[in-house]
Amino acid sequence: MSQPWPRTAAWVDGWLTSIGGVDVAELAAMYGTPLYVMDRAELLSRMREYRQAFGPDVSVVYAAKALCVVGVLQLAADQGLGVDVASDGELCTAERAGFPMQRVVLHGNNKSRDELRHAARLGVGTIVADSLGELDRIAAVAAEVNRQLVVMLRITPGVAASTHAFIATGHDDAKFGFSLWRGAAAEGIDRALNLPGVHLTGLHCHIGSQVTATDDFVVAAKAMCGLLGETRDRHGVELDELNLGGGLGIAYGPDDHTLAVTTYADRLLTTVGDELAARRLATPRLAVEPGRSIVGPAGLTLYRVGAGKEIAGLRRWVSVDGGMSDNLRPALYGVRYAVAPAGTPRHGPTAEFSVAGKHCETGDVVAADVDLPEDLGEGDLLAVAATGAYGYAMANNYNRLPRPAMVLAGDGAAQLLVRRETLDDVLAHDIVLR
Ligand code: LLP
Repeated sequence: MSQPWPRTAAWVDGWLTSIGGVDVAELAAMYGTPLYVMDRAELLSRMREYRQAFGPDVSVVYAAKALCVVGVLQLAADQGLGVDVASDGELCTAERAGFPMQRVVLHGNNKSRDELRHAARLGVGTIVADSLGELDRIAAVAAEVNRQLVVMLRITPGVAASTHAFIATGHDDAKFGFSLWRGAAAEGIDRALNLPGVHLTGLHCHIGSQVTATDDFVVAAKAMCGLLGETRDRHGVELDELNLGGGLGIAYGPDDHTLAVTTYADRLLTTVGDELAARRLATPRLAVEPGRSIVGPAGLTLYRVGAGKEIAGLRRWVSVDGGMSDNLRPALYGVRYAVAPAGTPRHGPTAEFSVAGKHCETGDVVAADVDLPEDLGEGDLLAVAATGAYGYAMANNYNRLPRPAMVLAGDGAAQLLVRRETLDDVLAHDIVLR
């Protein structure tokens, strides 16, 4: 069991009063709501925890898709992490953050030639190839820039991870990578080893996201070590790198089961050590790619309550000033988030509420059936836990809502990571017909 709130969250009688030493009511007053708040201490300690748990010989590559903003990538770079980018936009964010390009890993199941060219020009450390066609595209770009590109192959290890179907990626018929199924992976390795301009350094896998079953990770690691052994036996080549992807799950509510980073690291390192020893393979450089488990629990969202209504005998609703535009995850994956009253505490009884977003859609529910102060009403603040990952990252302008601001709170001060969008930003791309 684990609790979903960041460690600097301060509480009085069940009300969230401050984060990173900054009063939440002041944050809301100064920056407006909805507001994403990242707890600096939680964020940094999660980055350090990963580095310590895996040790100096393993690269911890932050999966930027979870939260790709310049300030967060600056912190990741400072902490010695690498970064996984999955598009030119994420790559440009890493560039703007001053990320050392050697530590950048480019992913994606359909990288365009332009994306590959940009990565090659910037000197991105590793390109992870996802398909035979993509290998050819990488080779063509290598010829254009007239140098070898460092490439890993994404392998689909045939593991159906226990998670939501939309975010499982390791099963045989997944859209990503070279499946072990019917030798596609072996064929990819053959091709990569023989393509001019491609320098194949290793293999990568990622079985899915929000995974908390250790066995899923262990089975995938075993399959990958098996493939390293087969590659040695078939081609006489011992590959230098093995990237086991990300996917470690986090707690969204108080009853969610999680896996400690140290346990996860121990199991992965022991499995890989044993499997390689059994095949008499030298240990390749290992990497992991956590996204959610670094930024997720470090973030929360502050909303302001507006309208409310009681449907006699059925339900009490309160509506907040955001919803599925700033957090798509309840609607998309049915995730249940923890909610708490925030700001100046009041004493009194609680009652069961459902918290609605403000979008024109019945599925726009921030949290159903949660206990909140009975007198909760207009002007009150609510905090939703663990929104740091895939919240802002998947935010949108449904109903033309501007995307919220994001602040970094720590040591009693807050600074902007992302400014709030304005309606001018939202309208900026529309062309008035003449
Ligand atoms: N590496 C690769 C190649 C990935 O595709 C991903 C996530 C990660 C690492 C990081 O996984 P994490 O540690 O964050 O679980 N929008 C979904 C999550 C999609 C994850 C996509 N890939 C959600 O909100 O749950």
